[in-house]
Amino acid sequence: MIRPLSLALLLFAPALVVQAAEPNLHDALQAARADRAGEPAVAKALQGLAGTCGTPLYVYDKTYLQGQARSVKAAFSARFPRLRILYAMKANTNPAIIRLLKAEGLGAEVISQGEIEAALVAGYKGGEIMFTSSSKGPGEIRRAIGLGAVLNVDSLDELGQVQAEARRQHKQARISFRVNPGVDPHTIHQINTGITEAKFGLHLQDGMAFKAYELAKAMPEIRIEGVHCHIGSQITETEGYLLTAKKMLGLVKDLHDKLGLTLGFVDLGGGLGIPYKDGQTVMSPEELAKGLEPVWKEGVAALGYEPTLWLEPGRFFVGGSGFLLTRVNSVKTTPVKTFVNVDAGFNTLLRPLLYQAYHRVRVVGGTGEPVVVDIAGNVCETGDILAEARTLPRSKAGDLLVILDAGAYGFSMASEYNARPLPAEVLVEGGKVQVIRRRGSYADLDRNLAGAKRP
Ligand code: LLP
Repeated sequence: MIRPLSLALLLFAPALVVQAAEPNLHDALQAARADRAGEPAVAKALQGLAGTCGTPLYVYDKTYLQGQARSVKAAFSARFPRLRILYAMKANTNPAIIRLLKAEGLGAEVISQGEIEAALVAGYKGGEIMFTSSSKGPGEIRRAIGLGAVLNVDSLDELGQVQAEARRQHKQARISFRVNPGVDPHTIHQINTGITEAKFGLHLQDGMAFKAYELAKAMPEIRIEGVHCHIGSQITETEGYLLTAKKMLGLVKDLHDKLGLTLGFVDLGGGLGIPYKDGQTVMSPEELAKGLEPVWKEGVAALGYEPTLWLEPGRFFVGGSGFLLTRVNSVKTTPVKTFVNVDAGFNTLLRPLLYQAYHRVRVVGGTGEPVVVDIAGNVCETGDILAEARTLPRSKAGDLLVILDAGAYGFSMASEYNARPLPAEVLVEGGKVQVIRRRGSYADLDRNLAGAKRP
């Protein structure tokens, strides 16, 4: 918020030339979120940032990020005495972001060896890492076992591979199984992971999940630590989680009663959605925790012991904290539409193309009359539209736009398609800016080429 001029200053120092206080960058970003990017002071702050750091630019708001982490911790720790929250690093793998979430006490959930290495760079110990992937290469299995990470095993085939590698290393592999609970939480099809037709996990329905534990129990190279599921991403209602928790605790009871297994944790995955549209309401961590509490308590009472509840959100922490600044290259009106052509594209932010995802767009300093436009990227494909049919203040070449909620699956899904170097990333704290990834260069594009020489 722009700080109001001090009344005392106006009353007692009328001779002073007082300028309206500038919002710091955190305030300016939040003003943009609140659809006040048109205000001159907000525009000045954002233009200053884009002028210094260039565009396209990913900007993360540290205070907002920390607030998101704290809201999940507060909601769940009040109700679940045995709780562990991890950060699903795939949402944003910048070590500066990971470090911030580590400082909030979160563990690391990773999907590849690259993410294992990023977790180590951010200061995690191997034992604090949970490695989930629907399949894992031999090198990845070797590294994860070597580090003492928990491997979240996705198939019986993979169980055999993990067992063999553990034997080779003369170690016990720490594992959980990823279970497919067959629950539909009603989200975008491509990220609806707990439905029966999805590629993920050992199914409850056909008894495979139970069978996997039975087999693993007999393997001296395997240490069973818990059970895992993840039913999808951008979930906005609680029902899917409640049904999943019920099913998972039912399995845990079966494992206890029939195999004598006591599990250390039940991981209910990530998936907590965020609002992408003005006025959209989605389930809050508080609502989810409140809804889960009775289901969990009932399951635990039937079970006779309390496993630790694990959660592993990604988007909820980082999504809203990220803003993509992009500059208008040109504006063109065709017989059909008006295109605002910007210097970002689906190489910068893939979500609109891949999922028809909606991201709000604000015109910085925009006060012109509203017009209906498509925000078009600079990639040579018709589908490269970042936002379709939006009513926005008229903009012109050189103007700056802000795309909201770009912190999750934004940079982490960016590519160098069309030979465009990757964007820079900066972290904002109040008025301070820290470059946490420098802008890609043309030399970067050649980095692995054999014998390439740039003239
Ligand atoms: N755990 C596992 C095993 C996952 O596969 C995922 C996300 C998460 C946790 C974190 O989910 P989140 O809390 O962020 O929803 N690229 C898509 C999202 C893909 C999610 C993949 N898995 C998007 O841009 O919407």
